[in-house]
Amino acid sequence: MTKVFPDIFLLPSPCEKVSHSFLEKHEITLFVKRDDLIHPEISGNKYRKLKYNLEYILKNNFSTIITFGGAFSNHLHATAALCHHFGVKSVGIIRGDGLDPNNPTLRFCLNNGMTLHFISREEYKNKSNSLVVQNIIGQYASSYVIPEGGSNELALTGVQEIWEEIYKQLEKIPDYIFCALGTGTTIAGLLGSAPKECKLLGFSVLKTSHLEKEVLIMAKNHKKSTFYCFTDYHFGGYAKTTQELQSFINEFEIQTSIPIDPVYNAKALFGFFDLIEKGHIPKGSSVVWLHTGGLQGIEAMNYMNVKK
Ligand SMILES: Cc1ncc(COP(=O)(O)O)c(C=O)c1O
Repeated sequence: MTKVFPDIFLLPSPCEKVSHSFLEKHEITLFVKRDDLIHPEISGNKYRKLKYNLEYILKNNFSTIITFGGAFSNHLHATAALCHHFGVKSVGIIRGDGLDPNNPTLRFCLNNGMTLHFISREEYKNKSNSLVVQNIIGQYASSYVIPEGGSNELALTGVQEIWEEIYKQLEKIPDYIFCALGTGTTIAGLLGSAPKECKLLGFSVLKTSHLEKEVLIMAKNHKKSTFYCFTDYHFGGYAKTTQELQSFINEFEIQTSIPIDPVYNAKALFGFFDLIEKGHIPKGSSVVWLHTGGLQGIEAMNYMNVKK
């Protein structure tokens, strides 16, 4: 892989101890695996998920990546940047009716050479059977399709590599690891190679009732580590926020200087702090929070709020 990936990525990503009064009060040692620092544009779980996909397409001489996402998608943003860096054509199939030229995420995608196709919400929901989608894909010879959120087998392989970095950095197995859940691919990758002594906590950022089952299906080889899926920390749904969440973000950033996005990481971290508050995380535990990046979501959320 090192042949394909030049030195533009900060790897292994740092694993830093978080200093925060709430954690100290509850005697919890929290490390943050700073995947947000891997690259300013191809950061977090996007790097992990796209790495082996890129290797595959370069090896097999595909000329184009086609992928899917909403109008503020971190995955589209990272895919556009990755393709731009590696000289691959990128195509985004977007849920929604048309281009808002001021949308910062889509503007970034366009500036990085991504061709955008907009399809209706109904068509998008049904994208695996949609003729409209098939017609778009058919326009691009030698194309490789990556599902929404970068969720495929090669993504799981990329995520699994995080463990080796953590073992080397901490020189021990943490009691817990946690992260935000969208499609559940990231935690499924972690679960696939997790040591059984470590419990995995996933915090869904959207309203869902079947994510836990989907994660367990994706992580079919997992070694029976314990996985808990929390679904009560979505703050009203995907990309929704509240004053309480915003205050939490501000307070956390003041104390730690670690930036967090309101769509994913803030919800996971809030959920984790709430579990501590409720006494579910024993004193003396050591915990890793996988910071999955997504910091472009801060600008996207600010833009959405101004537009409202
Ligand atoms: C920043 C960020 N964190 C977490 C997630 C959730 O990852 P997954 O879809 O693999 O559960 C996503 C979405 O892919 C994301 O963009």
